Amino acid sequence: MTLLYLRGGGSALAVDVSGPVPVVIHWGRDLGEDPVVPLALGNPVAHSHYDAPIVLELFPQAATGWRGRPALSGHRRDGRDFSPSFVTTDVTQDAGEASITLVAAEERLVVTIRLSMSAGGMLRVRHELTNESDELYALEGMNVVLPVGPIASEVLDLTGRWCREQHPQRQALRQGTWLREYRHGRTGHDSSVLTMVGASGFSNRHGEVWATHFGYSGNRATYVEKTPAAPAMIGSGELFQPGEMELSVGETYRTPWVYAAHSTTGIDGVSDVFHEWIRARGSHPRSPRPVVLNTWEAVYFDHGLDALLDLARVAGLLGVERFVLDDGWFHGRRSDRMGLGDWTVDAAVWPSGLTPLIEGVHAQGMEFGLWVEPEMINEDSDVIREHPDWISGPGTRTPVEWRHQQVIDLANPDAWRYVFDRIDALLTDNRISYLKWDQNRDLVEMGHDGRASAHRQTDAAYRLFDALKAAHPDVEIESCSSGGARVDLGVLERTDRVWASDCNDALERQTIQRWTQALLPLELIGTHVGPTLSHTTARTHSLSFRAVTAMFGHFGIEWDVRGLDESEFAQLRDAVALYKQHRALLHSGVAVHADFRDDAHRLQGVVARGGREALFSFACVRSAEDEIPGRIALPGLEASRLYRVAVVFPTSAMPYEQRSVVPWTVDSVVASGSFLSEVGLPMPILLPEHAILLHVTAAEDPGE
Ligand code: DGJ
Repeated sequence: MTLLYLRGGGSALAVDVSGPVPVVIHWGRDLGEDPVVPLALGNPVAHSHYDAPIVLELFPQAATGWRGRPALSGHRRDGRDFSPSFVTTDVTQDAGEASITLVAAEERLVVTIRLSMSAGGMLRVRHELTNESDELYALEGMNVVLPVGPIASEVLDLTGRWCREQHPQRQALRQGTWLREYRHGRTGHDSSVLTMVGASGFSNRHGEVWATHFGYSGNRATYVEKTPAAPAMIGSGELFQPGEMELSVGETYRTPWVYAAHSTTGIDGVSDVFHEWIRARGSHPRSPRPVVLNTWEAVYFDHGLDALLDLARVAGLLGVERFVLDDGWFHGRRSDRMGLGDWTVDAAVWPSGLTPLIEGVHAQGMEFGLWVEPEMINEDSDVIREHPDWISGPGTRTPVEWRHQQVIDLANPDAWRYVFDRIDALLTDNRISYLKWDQNRDLVEMGHDGRASAHRQTDAAYRLFDALKAAHPDVEIESCSSGGARVDLGVLERTDRVWASDCNDALERQTIQRWTQALLPLELIGTHVGPTLSHTTARTHSLSFRAVTAMFGHFGIEWDVRGLDESEFAQLRDAVALYKQHRALLHSGVAVHADFRDDAHRLQGVVARGGREALFSFACVRSAEDEIPGRIALPGLEASRLYRVAVVFPTSAMPYEQRSVVPWTVDSVVASGSFLSEVGLPMPILLPEHAILLHVTAAEDPGE
């Protein structure tokens, strides 16, 4: 084979495998079914340069002259074999799957590059490195690197902190390296779900974009690098702690999967590739996503059977389908200072165990879910009093506490078995359908037996998820990590949704959810209606703004609903019913976002595949520059269909700032999809921090 060519969803990767090393000729637009691609076409040799042309290797290495960040760094213990020379020995391709084997004969190292392209355009790449020498190989780093097209001139990625995850930052692509390092031992609040590079001004719906996601929940670095020698490259790889990755004879290290998507239709095009691929996974949750009530912001640690049964009763009346008991139920857990690791039900608070509550929840027709934090312990716990050596750390001292807690050393098989047995027993002894699996600190000094173990800790945590899932296949798991500090496709291989943020303030959530959604389809993102006065920002928002915002995800409630007045109860019950009515659409359709010059307005929607219907939210997040919003496009509708538009939420007390002389309405509008998507409708002047929900349905006959 001379050309490795993978195509799908309008994009393609072409790799010249005719020479000694694999050279990327193209990653971008599809080139058609059987393109004629000239191979071994050399670049000119630059002045003051090696006496050979620059090649864009799929596995960039110094041995062929690459002077950017290499695919591999490592050496033998005495420093030898620091610059292996890999050459291709084998290439295979079977439809959308391919592999390339590279061998560094002198150094006795073998690399296998695995590639796959889905029909929808999801390109996945990972490297495997095997040490074939009988001397240890100290691996320092292994990056998956892809070149982007010459039109790319801007970098967009996301950053954040607790209660402010996934906020965008954009900059010009210049010479140099834009390097993001995440040394949290978990994915991290500042972790960008996507690294995007694109044409100048690329936006929600416009422009050519290349994007990658690193599917892993531990330490890592992602980067965009531009050197004078080559086009811009997107790279990512695991970050190892000193000395933690040594390969003995025959041992193999596999990088996590790097997911890559190319789009000519802006960020929505990238998201579409990810959403379609994620939804096609065998493990993807397919049953209707139940309305959740989570007890955290309702009662915090103040647990008591009567109060929680009452909460469950009101939740049942509202139409809730899954009741989740959050932190505070286990032995000694009266605050966040103690108890983590003692995974038995607290006999003082729950003298008859959790059964009376679970039965009460089931009697209301709801499932029961439980909060756990298996990777963590408090020093003030029975388990640590008995096994002080189970705290992960450098071995010479105990790491600094974080929320009064430490990390349990899951690389220790006894500790791992203890945690597994405890959670397994809970799931065996109680009718639990769902775990909210939390992780509330960074894991910065992971160590086992005096050696760094961040990789082993992540690996052991994954094995814990996998073993519990295997033992209890019907239990769904949520990945929560002080909110959204573990949102990635590694953890989502073994979980069923993520908690996007501890911030339930709808205004903050408008941004957090929009960008979490750039990677994940809505059904995987937990979105709850919080209390009127937000607990994390002290802002007050209307129930309609909170409900419309929570609609675009896996909907739930996190509020003490025992205290609702009549009107709040009715509105919340309506919102629950509306979510149930539309969840099939929300959780299967195409996510769309309109482009605006003034981002005071946000328009997002989900359009059914085939265009039969759509749901849009139109939100105002701050006072706008203009007097009126003007016409707002409703993107993604089928051009040739006719549609009707109706406001479906709120149903009363519209949040419009308008004079009553000419009331705003869309009630009688019938328009073609092309008109609605390109020109749009005049929208009402919304009060800041308010939103409305529009339902768009195909009207087969305009006279209907
Ligand atoms: C952090 C989570 O993100 C919250 O939702 C809640 O579960 C608390 N931990 C409980 O300690």
